[in-house]
Amino acid sequence: MAEFALPANSKIGTGKTWPAPSGAKKTKTFKVYRWNPDDGQNPRVDSYTIDLDACGPMVLDALIKIKNEIDPTLTFRRSCREGVCGSCAMNIDGTNTLACTKNLHDVDGDVKIYPLPHQPVVKDLVPDLNQAYAQLQSIEPWLKTTSPAPGRERPQSPEERAKLDGLWECILCFCCSTSCPSYWWNGERYLGPAILLQAYRWIADSRDEFAGERLDQLEDPFRLYRCHTIMNCTRTCPKSLNPAKAIAEIKKLMVERKG
Ligand code: SF4
Ligand code: SF4
Ligand code: FES
Repeated sequence: MAEFALPANSKIGTGKTWPAPSGAKKTKTFKVYRWNPDDGQNPRVDSYTIDLDACGPMVLDALIKIKNEIDPTLTFRRSCREGVCGSCAMNIDGTNTLACTKNLHDVDGDVKIYPLPHQPVVKDLVPDLNQAYAQLQSIEPWLKTTSPAPGRERPQSPEERAKLDGLWECILCFCCSTSCPSYWWNGERYLGPAILLQAYRWIADSRDEFAGERLDQLEDPFRLYRCHTIMNCTRTCPKSLNPAKAIAEIKKLMVERKG
């Protein structure tokens, strides 16, 4: 998994500390980024020490325990608890990943938890992903056709269907895009690895009839070509997908159609 330094924020202050419950034999401390847009205070890092004998194994279990039993003001997103919705993406121990699939026993020492880097924060661990979703909308992530369907369905051969493996599994958690330096610095114009993987998912779909138009839309110095193959995206993807490869495939198609 990729590790990268979070941007220095000199204004992050020391927050509150909740000690271990009395009698706890096996404990772990979670240092969690806190920021509330409504209290006028700078961000801080709060410290919660919990009894591991009374907690599930995943970082999300610990966050839910903290919220339910210690500090109900702690805010984070989660839904499926199974690594399929992408809601609980955050930066844990220096890596963007899913809190529900990250085993807290895999982290040595304290568990440091921040929101996904380089996105505006809504509150605590909740990033504002409006830009990313607008970019998703811009690539029109649905099947586009002009010809009538041959029947009730548009069939694919097993080989055509296999071309979508490694693409359809993307859960749009944005761990990859928010680990990408090009996306950090040019996120308003560069689509980033998550959206480019989605774009390729439709370009590669044998049933879609708009591959040419989709490539036209990506043919731009910023939207596609800001990828400099730094590979943070692929290293950090919690679903073990390879967005850098999908980007390389789009670039290859661009060259082929010019050739
Ligand atoms: S490619 Fe991986 S890291 Fe990126 S959005 Fe999809 S699942 Fe998340
Ligand atoms: S390979 Fe491209 S998309 Fe992935 S982190 Fe590097 S620059 Fe970003
Ligand atoms: S809660 Fe759905 S991916 Fe973690």
